Amino acid sequence: MKLFIDTANLAEIKTASTWGIISGVTTNPSLIAKEGRNIVDVIKEITTLIDGPISAEVQEGLAEAMIETAFDYAKMHSNIVIKIPMTMEGIKAVSVLSKHGIKTNVTLCFSVSQAMMAAKAGATFVSPFMGRLDDATNNPEAGYELLQDIRLAYDNYHIQTEIIAASIRHPLHAEQAALAGADIATIPYKVFLQMIEHPLTAKGLDIFRKAEKQ
Ligand code: E4P
Repeated sequence: MKLFIDTANLAEIKTASTWGIISGVTTNPSLIAKEGRNIVDVIKEITTLIDGPISAEVQEGLAEAMIETAFDYAKMHSNIVIKIPMTMEGIKAVSVLSKHGIKTNVTLCFSVSQAMMAAKAGATFVSPFMGRLDDATNNPEAGYELLQDIRLAYDNYHIQTEIIAASIRHPLHAEQAALAGADIATIPYKVFLQMIEHPLTAKGLDIFRKAEKQ
């Protein structure tokens, strides 16, 4: 499973790039707004930090408008992936963009049906949202089950669309993504920091430090 970082914060991306484990970046309008900067400027800077797929989201609307913005964004860098919301207009836009060889990431996916439609349209990536589904259903396994089901449906037909486990809130989501066979997990910076921690690792290091001092 590849690991992407889910942020538009350049300092976080810069630090994470030094870890040597990050293969791509996902952003969304909320993450861009948090930075208080223009999406084009932020995305351009991200392309200088990470050499891998970088998702830039277009504003939801009519297919024609999303396609126009997508062509503009795609011109920025060959690593740009156009993130498109899961609507019928979005599916229309993905169908056109995929025929032009433009990579797409269909976002806000909450069902196998939606994932099937994204794949049919030729999406490069589909992003099922684990955290938001868990919250909405009050079931901490709902996101996990969705990923498992999409994996099964895609494998039944050898579908090439890659599954990005998104809306990851804690390390367990990242583990569930791996167990369900997601191709990618896109993970916030703070969750990466939690993933490296384990109380027994800390305890073991403490024991070794004390031993070295003897
Ligand atoms: C990434 O592609 C998604 O936009 C992001 O993971 C959503 O996360 P959230 O549900 O925590 O906002």
